[in-house]
Amino acid sequence: MFKAVLFDLDGVITDTAEYHFRAWQQLADKLGIKGVDRKFNEQLKGVSRDDSLQKILDLGQVKVSAQEFAALTKQKNETYLKLIEAISPKDIYPGIQQLLQDLRAHDIRIALASASKNGSFLLERLGLTECFDAIADPAKVRHSKPAPDIFIAAAEAVNVPVTESIGIEDSQAGITAIKASGALPVGVGRADDLGDDIALVPDTTGLTFNYLMSVWKR
Ligand code: BG6
Ligand code: MG
Repeated sequence: MFKAVLFDLDGVITDTAEYHFRAWQQLADKLGIKGVDRKFNEQLKGVSRDDSLQKILDLGQVKVSAQEFAALTKQKNETYLKLIEAISPKDIYPGIQQLLQDLRAHDIRIALASASKNGSFLLERLGLTECFDAIADPAKVRHSKPAPDIFIAAAEAVNVPVTESIGIEDSQAGITAIKASGALPVGVGRADDLGDDIALVPDTTGLTFNYLMSVWKR
């Protein structure tokens, strides 16, 4: 039996992946960079704030100074924070609260493995902080997703070998990170985006305790 579940946040626990996308689009518009559409956004999902901006600048072949770079990431975060201002427990994706309860009831450890520096704040706003045994700090890991570091840190934080853990992700970078960590990946999304070689649910209603058990036994 698996002993821990390592959750991504944005796009898995709630719809904030959409708000990250809108905030990046606004910034790209301001910079006159075209092509930050939903397809391109698949490359941004799960990717750190700095790495995301770099990908957008590369797309537009725009170069900025280190100072401008810092100002742009700050702007993006301010836009993002405004967009999530009204977020509350009603925004938790369907099935997530039940899954968290069932995991707790079966004594499975629960950890957050989000790349977002807004992760703790969001869990608090969603009323989910108490449901988590640990929150891995993305500021403390060396390499961000697609590197495995944050998933390894999350498993360590709950004292479970990462190979006895399931990781849940909605992003390409995140699935790559889970695979590299040694945890078992479960994707939320489409095979076109996440690959057809992993367990996949189209949305979070599929993320039941029984489903995770069935995936683990496969
Ligand atoms: C990930 C999101 O969870 O966190 C990315 O999928 C985001 O879109 C990244 O860039 C970093 O988030 P933040 O809140 O620290 O800018
Ligand atoms: Mg995500």
